[in-house]
Amino acid sequence: MQSLASQRFETFWNQVAQSYADQKLAIIGSEKPFNFCCIKNKHLCHFISNAKDTLKEAKNLGFVISTILNRYYDIIILELTKSRETNLGLIALAEESLKDGGKMIINGDNKIGIKSFLQNISYQWPPEITMIKKKGRIALYQKKKQLFGRWKKYQGFDKNNDGYYTRCDMFSPKEIDEGSQKLVSAFSTKLFGEVADLGAGWGYLSKEALRLNNKITRITLFENNYSAYLASKKNIDDERATFRWASIENIRNLRLRFNHVICNPPFHSGRQTDIELLKSFIFYSSRLINPRGSVWMVFVSGVYFENELKKYFDNIKLLYKDKHYFVCQLLKPKIKEV
Ligand SMILES: C[S@@+](CC[C@H](N)C(=O)[O-])C[C@H]1O[C@@H](n2cnc3c(N)ncnc32)[C@H](O)[C@@H]1O
Repeated sequence: MQSLASQRFETFWNQVAQSYADQKLAIIGSEKPFNFCCIKNKHLCHFISNAKDTLKEAKNLGFVISTILNRYYDIIILELTKSRETNLGLIALAEESLKDGGKMIINGDNKIGIKSFLQNISYQWPPEITMIKKKGRIALYQKKKQLFGRWKKYQGFDKNNDGYYTRCDMFSPKEIDEGSQKLVSAFSTKLFGEVADLGAGWGYLSKEALRLNNKITRITLFENNYSAYLASKKNIDDERATFRWASIENIRNLRLRFNHVICNPPFHSGRQTDIELLKSFIFYSSRLINPRGSVWMVFVSGVYFENELKKYFDNIKLLYKDKHYFVCQLLKPKIKEV
């Protein structure tokens, strides 16, 4: 079903598109390329994202893909993200990449605060058009001069309270996640050989795994988010670490390769709960370990699915449980083809 953001954008775009035929466009902030299907000249439109799987989807739809704004554009479309700091950083970047007189379109749902965000911008930069529709707003601005350079700071990697490089557009940037800490306590000194870190984020689990387990020969960090992947490279300086910018469903030729998988699996896509994503992490982890290997996973209490684990593993050891987290060691992967 078409999302509200997509319906709002389509209505708006149909009203203005004729004036912008053949112009160079970029889309930023969005993890949903389908929201922009109504754009006709997709070969003139750059879809910018950090997420490997999103970029793949955008490419399949005909957009030109990139992780950065790398030229001057006539129009930049920002779909508001759930992170205010990320949005401010994106505005600063977009302003720099717009041609003089270029247009910026900002689209967002009420529930992620579009109204106050636009008010904040419009105070210095009045919009030419604003449309209120489908539980959200969309507004169009014309570039006049550089107004928001001070927000470029949100594009940099800074050390967080725990001493790790992070940025606002990744998981738990301000501090180490509590669930991840519980997982480290469970696998401490138990890992050896080849290890995979699935959804490695900015590298906390791998860094601790390497510090606490000198029998690890190699650890491979798999991460979908490009900026988290870059941050993990800054955080880990150990020749046993290998970094892969990849979405787990595209990991090829590594079946049965690993002695251990460590993982704090995601269960959100953007703001929405995405249980299928969590289930896919359980499934793929079972394919990556060898028959005597084990998967070490932490679950948030509300999304602990014992039945799902039993589908792919014969032995499930519950190592730790409190009212927020479950930490498990999953052994004896079921070898059946799925
Ligand atoms: C709950 S976070 C855990 C991050 C890190 N391991 C930690 O403990 O701090 C889950 C991570 O999975 C990543 N992720 C989400 N979908 C993914 C996918 N399809 N393939 C690979 N990584 C993914 C997210 O970007 C996020 O960094």
